[in-house]
Amino acid sequence: MLLFKRVSDLQKHLQSLRMKGLTIGFVPTMGALHLGHTSLVTQANAECQVSVVSIFVNPTQFNQAKDLEKYPRTPELDIELLADAHCNILFMPAVEEIYPTGHVVSDKFNFSKLDKVLEGEFRPGHFQGVCQIVDLLLQIVKPDFLFMGEKDFQQCKIIQLMIDSKQTNSRCSLITLPTIRETYGLAKSSRNLRLNNSSLNKATALFKALKKITLTINHENLLELSENAKREVIDAGFGKKSIDIGASG
Ligand code: PAF
Repeated sequence: MLLFKRVSDLQKHLQSLRMKGLTIGFVPTMGALHLGHTSLVTQANAECQVSVVSIFVNPTQFNQAKDLEKYPRTPELDIELLADAHCNILFMPAVEEIYPTGHVVSDKFNFSKLDKVLEGEFRPGHFQGVCQIVDLLLQIVKPDFLFMGEKDFQQCKIIQLMIDSKQTNSRCSLITLPTIRETYGLAKSSRNLRLNNSSLNKATALFKALKKITLTINHENLLELSENAKREVIDAGFGKKSIDIGASG
């Protein structure tokens, strides 16, 4: 696996591969890698001749400085995991390499309401920051295929819209892959490293309650299932106020 830290070195190398007619698959990440990420690398290797992974904790997509500071960083383990997954190229730039004149959150992308609902409702500007960095990385790597995990469902939809509506110059195809889960059901996520046992149990209870709904739902029982699910997650330690599993419409 080759490791690049400078944009110009990476671009030079990728250009030489492109000249040989090789196809490039790209997996953008923020590190603290797990099997969800390596499943993307495996697929990139299966569909493309060259796999490129970026590790960059992008400051413009964090709403709070503390959250950015505390984001898990495990670079040595990441490098081992990627080498084992047969990643060809790792790009690990410093913040100044990506934002040489400083970083300001973009507001140039227009996704109508798609970035204002669900996670976006609670993280204003988050998806602008995500698209800002994904667009920048696509300009640098110029991949044929972009691989992302369905765990970040809203992110996948917004990136697809960015590509379809030509708000990026990249003409890559986005390939999304299923969420990889722990044996007890919780989706693998870099942020899980920040959860203590009690928070892990709460998060798992939420998954189990939602899963039960998907397995038993019909036209008549939504209200009852929703009430049961609320009770289950409150019993697992969620505050009453934070629970709003909409049962209407
Ligand atoms: O999903 C992530 O890890 C990040 O949002 C991404 C796509 C790498 C952009 O920083």
